Amino acid sequence: MSSAEARTAFISFFESQGHKFWRSSPVVPYNDPTLLFVNAGMCQYKPIFLGDADLNTEFGQMKRACNTQKCIRAGGKHNDLEDVGKDVYHHTFFEMLGNWSFGDYFKELAVEFAWNCLTQVYNLEPARLYATYFGGDEKAGLQPDLEARDYWLKYLPESHVLPGSMKENFWEMGETGPCGPCSELHYDRIGGRECPELVNQDDPDVLEIWNLVFMQYNRENSGKLSPLPHPCVDTGMGLERLVSVLNDLRSNYDTDLFTSLFKKIHELCPDAPREYTGKVGSEDPERIDLAYRAIADHIRTLSIAIADGAIPSNDGRGYVLRRILRRAVRYGRQVLNAPKTGTWFSQLAGTVIESLGEAFPELREKSEKIVEVISCEEQQFNRTLDRGTALFKKAIKNLKPGDMVTGVVSFELFATYGFPVDLTEVMCEEQRLKLDLEGFEKAMEAHHLASDGGNAKKLVQHLTPEQIHRLKTEFDVEPTDDSHKYVWDADHGKGEPMEVEVKAIFDGHDFAPSCKSSAGGELFVVFDRTCFYAESGGQVGDKGYATGDGIDLVVEDTRKVGGYVLHLGRLNDGELKVGDKLTLVNDFERRGEIAKNHTGTHVLNCALRSILGEDCNQAGSIVEPKKLRFDFTSQKALTQEQISELEGTVRRIIHDEHDVDVAEVPLVQAQGIRGVRCMFGENYPDPVRVVSVGAKIPDLVSGAASGEGDVTVEFCGGTHLNNSRAIEEFVVISEESIARGIRRVVAVTGPTAHSAVADGADLSTRVHALVSKGAEHASRNDISAMKDYVNSRRENVGLLVRKECVDLLDKLTQEKAKLTKILAKQRKELAVLKADECVQMLIAGQYRWSVIVEDSLGGDVKAMEEFTNRFQDTLAVPLILLSTEPETQTPAVMATVPKSNPLNAAEWLQKAADGMTCKSGGKPATARGTISAGYDQTKWTRQAFDYASNNTQAAKHTDTQ
Ligand code: ALA
Repeated sequence: MSSAEARTAFISFFESQGHKFWRSSPVVPYNDPTLLFVNAGMCQYKPIFLGDADLNTEFGQMKRACNTQKCIRAGGKHNDLEDVGKDVYHHTFFEMLGNWSFGDYFKELAVEFAWNCLTQVYNLEPARLYATYFGGDEKAGLQPDLEARDYWLKYLPESHVLPGSMKENFWEMGETGPCGPCSELHYDRIGGRECPELVNQDDPDVLEIWNLVFMQYNRENSGKLSPLPHPCVDTGMGLERLVSVLNDLRSNYDTDLFTSLFKKIHELCPDAPREYTGKVGSEDPERIDLAYRAIADHIRTLSIAIADGAIPSNDGRGYVLRRILRRAVRYGRQVLNAPKTGTWFSQLAGTVIESLGEAFPELREKSEKIVEVISCEEQQFNRTLDRGTALFKKAIKNLKPGDMVTGVVSFELFATYGFPVDLTEVMCEEQRLKLDLEGFEKAMEAHHLASDGGNAKKLVQHLTPEQIHRLKTEFDVEPTDDSHKYVWDADHGKGEPMEVEVKAIFDGHDFAPSCKSSAGGELFVVFDRTCFYAESGGQVGDKGYATGDGIDLVVEDTRKVGGYVLHLGRLNDGELKVGDKLTLVNDFERRGEIAKNHTGTHVLNCALRSILGEDCNQAGSIVEPKKLRFDFTSQKALTQEQISELEGTVRRIIHDEHDVDVAEVPLVQAQGIRGVRCMFGENYPDPVRVVSVGAKIPDLVSGAASGEGDVTVEFCGGTHLNNSRAIEEFVVISEESIARGIRRVVAVTGPTAHSAVADGADLSTRVHALVSKGAEHASRNDISAMKDYVNSRRENVGLLVRKECVDLLDKLTQEKAKLTKILAKQRKELAVLKADECVQMLIAGQYRWSVIVEDSLGGDVKAMEEFTNRFQDTLAVPLILLSTEPETQTPAVMATVPKSNPLNAAEWLQKAADGMTCKSGGKPATARGTISAGYDQTKWTRQAFDYASNNTQAAKHTDTQ
């Protein structure tokens, strides 16, 4: 049975049993902040389980559902990344077949359906099946699931029905969320034997195939289990495993879902040592089959995740994808001898789309984007992979198995060569070495300190005038020819490497004829010519590297002094000598991001002027790869409308696709251009470089065009885009005052702006979801957690979206406060009624004390006081009162004892809460407190009762609720 047939058979069976086919949700859970990726079929139904789904929708009305859900388990509670490749049954991406009951059938039918499906639809041999059930857990106060056991006994002999622990048989979605006891079905691939002892022992031949969860609880933030509104059924069966079982294969990787991928991998890596042979562990000492499996798994995960809108990046789920991709690329290059150039890995996506496109049509719709995103990432990592590997090899040259690789090495690999630390860990493991993870963290921290202006050693920033003079006179070095900095493809962030000659080396102390990598420390290198842009006009300096015979020089910044371009960096390998010929490689991709921000800055400047008028002058700017910062003169903050107008104008100019024109113009003529923007007091060279977005320079000079309306004209030496369209997108991140009369706007463009838009949509969805609950149902904790979350996104999400979110949350807080006030008033009134009721009930009986639990007062101290006073006014007997706050489920307690009674109120509270965490205080006559953990009503009532009866001569008492 092929995977496609197995999938269809499952869905048809459950449809015939009254289940609705409800298609798989995307793997990116936009609406659930507790999840990195969708990791089980039940995730999309969480609102139904919790009773939060809108009952007016088809979704909310569903009683039974089935589907095949795309799942990724690579991070969070369910994480299989570390195991992928090593064995034949772990995946980061897999399909989960499932059927669900939402308050409809429960254990009995769930068991019956599963049994019939396996034995009648898939014709599995009953004698090979084992079922487990939850054996109970005393610590958690949970009973064994004998009901499930008995249902299984209808189909299986006792020896095939086995109890299991909390770990195996109590399924939880994550740290919080729906959960419950579960029953698993296990299958013996061998057959013709009895092997209950192999169940749950990680035996590749006796494996779990289906999990039936009886959803009964919700795990709250506090760790507490609270019952769900209706018991539900949630089942999950891994398709890959099922197909292996149905075809009598020993491994998921032998199914049709993977074999086509292995074939393609071999085709794309013709120099691989051999084809895939399915070996593991010591039978695969060179990890060839491991590499095949990991690559096949990873391309599936990436294709699916990207089709669903995720993108590799530097944090969150994007970083999980980047790590997965880099692992795969490295396995390919190092184990399967994948081609050094080109994009073999991204080409595999086509095979995934072929194999899964029928079941998940979004793969076909997004096929171009999938290939483009993967190939872009692949190329980026390819650029540093070899050099990083060389550094690693060198670092471990003298190490023996069991030795430790330092954090400095793994940090260098991370920061300079883009090796995620878990990838370095894999590489260490392959060499049987350990990795100093603590050292890595420390190196990372030191780096942050350094970049935050902390006390770590700084790069020497400049050469002194005297040193510059020596370059000229003593070493006879000509000023650097840097005209090549403008030769590149700006709109695509690409450019050629350049052959250069080393003219001078400054080793941090003095000029030196040579320098060895072992000397460490930073240096300046001057070449005869360069394609690097040196920091100037607010645009940061370029980064990149230079290689030559055994030499690896990392360039971390570029500056220009006295006509010399200084490449600041570190020598990671080899010995560098004056006269060496090197290949200088600029990180043009980074330069491309910078260009988007630089041209974006000019457009922003123009848009600001159109909004604020001619008086708004530029007062400084910084252009970096990830953001732009623009300071300008203005007495007032920009209003929300103005920011929105600003974004709108910039977007319009992007959309109108204005060409960027650049030319050198004699200063006098240039200054005569109508509408030119220049910084007051700046000394401009003559001729001056003029950059215009929207007009041709000759037209500007002749007066046929002017820098007005949407046209910008500035004097600028920066490296710009060729057309405004390449800015792609523009989002204002913040606007603030930095000095009297000077405001600062921070904004983003390009991919960073796309992420800001996507993150903004995500944030807004979350906030709206909370707000739509209304003041009554949104808890104070949730509101304040959401406010913190909005605040934590202040560098990632646009100002306008954040402002809207904050306004909505503020409004919700106000409504909540109003409601609380009303509620407090109602509770006080209720307290009087309830107290009177109690008094009426008790008055006849001559009671000597009272233990009362009254949750309708909502743990409200004022209402409880009201109750107590009213009660004491009439009865004047000792009273201990408990009332639980509904949102936090925290009981508040209060005791009052009339004068001359032997009971002690403070002691009473303590004794009643014996064995619980209770903060209370007061005097013998009156005391109050709260119970923050361990509350058990029966126990509390009994202890309250015992204290009172042990300390008063017994008479009547009361104990009401
Ligand atoms: N949600 C259950 C699981 O993932 C079915 O195993």
